[in-house]
Amino acid sequence: MSIEGWEKLLDQFRTPLFDAVKYHVKRNAVPLQIPGHKHGNGLVEYKEFVGENVLRMDLNQTRGIDIIWDPTSVITEAEKLLAETFQASAAYFLINGTTSGVQTMIMSTCKPGDQIILPRNVHKSIFNALILSGAKPVYVLPEISSELGIVLSITESNLRIVVEKNPTAKAVLAINPSYYGVTSNLKSIVEAAHHNGMPVLVDEAHGTHMHFHDHFPVSAMEAGADISAVSLHKTGGSMTQSSALLIGNSGIDPLYIKQVLNLAYTTSPSYILLCSLDVARKQLATRGRQILDQLLELLKWSREEINKIGGYFAPDKVFFEESGNFSFDETKLLINVRKIGLTGYEVEEMLARDYNILIELADMYNILAITGLGERKEYLEALINALTDIARHTDRSEIKKIDAIQFNPEIVMQPREAFYSPKRSVPLEQCAGEISGEMIMVYPPGIPLVSMGEVITHEIIEYVKQLKLEKCTLQGTSDPCVNFVMVLDR
Ligand SMILES: Cc1ncc(COP(=O)(O)O)c(C=O)c1O
Repeated sequence: MSIEGWEKLLDQFRTPLFDAVKYHVKRNAVPLQIPGHKHGNGLVEYKEFVGENVLRMDLNQTRGIDIIWDPTSVITEAEKLLAETFQASAAYFLINGTTSGVQTMIMSTCKPGDQIILPRNVHKSIFNALILSGAKPVYVLPEISSELGIVLSITESNLRIVVEKNPTAKAVLAINPSYYGVTSNLKSIVEAAHHNGMPVLVDEAHGTHMHFHDHFPVSAMEAGADISAVSLHKTGGSMTQSSALLIGNSGIDPLYIKQVLNLAYTTSPSYILLCSLDVARKQLATRGRQILDQLLELLKWSREEINKIGGYFAPDKVFFEESGNFSFDETKLLINVRKIGLTGYEVEEMLARDYNILIELADMYNILAITGLGERKEYLEALINALTDIARHTDRSEIKKIDAIQFNPEIVMQPREAFYSPKRSVPLEQCAGEISGEMIMVYPPGIPLVSMGEVITHEIIEYVKQLKLEKCTLQGTSDPCVNFVMVLDR
């Protein structure tokens, strides 16, 4: 490594923001300012549970600690270190999750009425960003695995077709990886989009860690993408809500992006969350590879053990690559349970009720455990033992096949227009042919089965009824039981 390389690495051991906040806590200044709980004296029950330091770190625009929307000192330094870690040209801390990141990416590149090309299986935060920005979606339909019953990635060839048909689109948005861990060939997507003059925005909510080990699919910044939103809080080790916006090297003005970000940034950000970003960045930069090495070993062993039980199938990266998908993030422990004779929903319920194990999500055929930097072998052992026990007590006949829904929406009205249109409530059974005035989704993963402005088909109604029978929790509708749906009042 060159001297400059060493200097950069040494820099990554620093935590300028966290140090400034710790200094402030030690200084113990008289707090004649907000927040009014005054070091927790006004919130004793809470302080006794979480500890005094958390309350002392809860600051608001305190002298010497920099300001998030217009930083000049320790936050500027901390964000520079973050950018350097991800090989980005600039980076911004987010404390309203990757949700605020995707909103900023779309609003920085699309004005109302502009087209944006994106996969249909995006998270609800992106649909909400379409409403906020007034951008018009042009969808690339993702592939579906009939074997696993999950939505996969988009192919580069499908993307090229859509890009060529819509040459005036202002941006391409990609997911890297999906909730389930599947990725597209991001480098080729970037090439195809850039070739047509379109910037690439990447939802990397589930991919923060991928930048720190070469076993993983390529990260957005490595692939040459223009902007990426990463949920450090999901797989990067920081606290819930804390994410980052990474700006690539291809010319979108970071200051304009910052201006858009500031439109909805709170003026009272949590320094508890911000400091966790500073420390998580240091950990990823200085020890990320080592921690991820150990995690990948643990997962290799877990998959082997799960696949030995019989009836379960835990696919690895090779399985996805050989079945035509670009790649797979192996920290996502996807387990297909179809041959055990139970649905994923039933296995999830049994794990929680009988074994005190909480997994990330379930669908008709699968359960998904998300592993992370703080993983312990005993957590995975508990899962393996529980799955063994469950397999022993089921008759192991394959469950009936309910195909994953094909996303092919008929868009009658743009999301923003549909959001502001008058609506009426209609029984689910009578919704066929109506235009949806709300989203219907399973959360997680939070991908709408139908979104605002799209036609509700018989297939969607039947699928929703099936999900309800399986006691799957549906969200997005005003009626929490989804017996009624808000449709556009035409
Ligand atoms: C694919 C995807 N994108 C974006 C988001 C939003 O991220 P956040 O929860 O950090 O706001 C999520 C959240 O689960 C997600 O799954």
